[in-house]
Amino acid sequence: MDMGARVAEPPDYGIDAPGVVRNLFVVGAVGWLVWGSVVLGLWSGQLVIPFPGLRIVFPLAGMGLGCGVGFTLMGVWMLWDSKVGKVRSRERLLQRVTWTGEEQVLDVGCGRGLLLIGAAKRLTTGRAVGIDLWQAEDLSGNRPEATLENARREGVADRVEVRTGDMRGMPFGDNTFDVVVSRAAVHNLYDAAARAQAIGEIARVLKPGGRALIEDIRHLREYETVFSENGCADVRRVGSLMVSVLLMLITFGSLRPGALVVRKSA
Ligand SMILES: C[S@@+](CC[C@H](N)C(=O)[O-])C[C@H]1O[C@@H](n2cnc3c(N)ncnc32)[C@H](O)[C@@H]1O
Repeated sequence: MDMGARVAEPPDYGIDAPGVVRNLFVVGAVGWLVWGSVVLGLWSGQLVIPFPGLRIVFPLAGMGLGCGVGFTLMGVWMLWDSKVGKVRSRERLLQRVTWTGEEQVLDVGCGRGLLLIGAAKRLTTGRAVGIDLWQAEDLSGNRPEATLENARREGVADRVEVRTGDMRGMPFGDNTFDVVVSRAAVHNLYDAAARAQAIGEIARVLKPGGRALIEDIRHLREYETVFSENGCADVRRVGSLMVSVLLMLITFGSLRPGALVVRKSA
């Protein structure tokens, strides 16, 4: 065995919304504690609120168990998605384009380069540019250096560039990119007008006939409308409707993930 051989380091694309993941585990742990303390016989597990002529009883043990299971599972799912699921779904998304290898590609809200690097791997003479504001609350270890390090680990550093900028006003000319990609980024703008601005920017920098691949956890219908108002009438919703509806039900409408394949009119 060659003891000098170095094991290739895998890329690390970070954990999405790390604060949300932490909170899910904290609330889940509180739920397990409440349930566990009742099972151990430390208290009755019932919160009784007496009203004149009325006695309201909250069965906290059951609620604790429900929160423990629900929030812990949600946290585990978010961790799994960040570590495994999102790499798989990037491949499915990028396969929606027929690549020549010569494309100019933009990743909007690129973070640590998940789609940026996935696209760069499909390029020969083309280049992939990522733009981001590097917000730590949206992605763990979110820094341009981390993105460039991942590009180096994936062997595409020569085809990748990162820029610091806001998706609502991007420093690129009209009709610059053959392909624009974005994953889990535009929903971070909490105001519908700001999201419309970002989608309008994506449409503006796309070349006529160019493609946009947009995956996000909610607001897909809103994006469809804005794209069609900005010269991109050819918009297709892709991905599993079943998963989208299931997640919508489990999260009481908070998540409604999906992806769009968009073509700018020639
Ligand atoms: C959940 S992360 C996803 C990162 C990457 N696309 C991925 O799939 O791993 C969302 C990203 O959007 C970026 N972002 C949020 N608001 C932005 C804005 N107004 N302009 C540019 N990037 C933004 C964040 O900094 C973060 O990197």
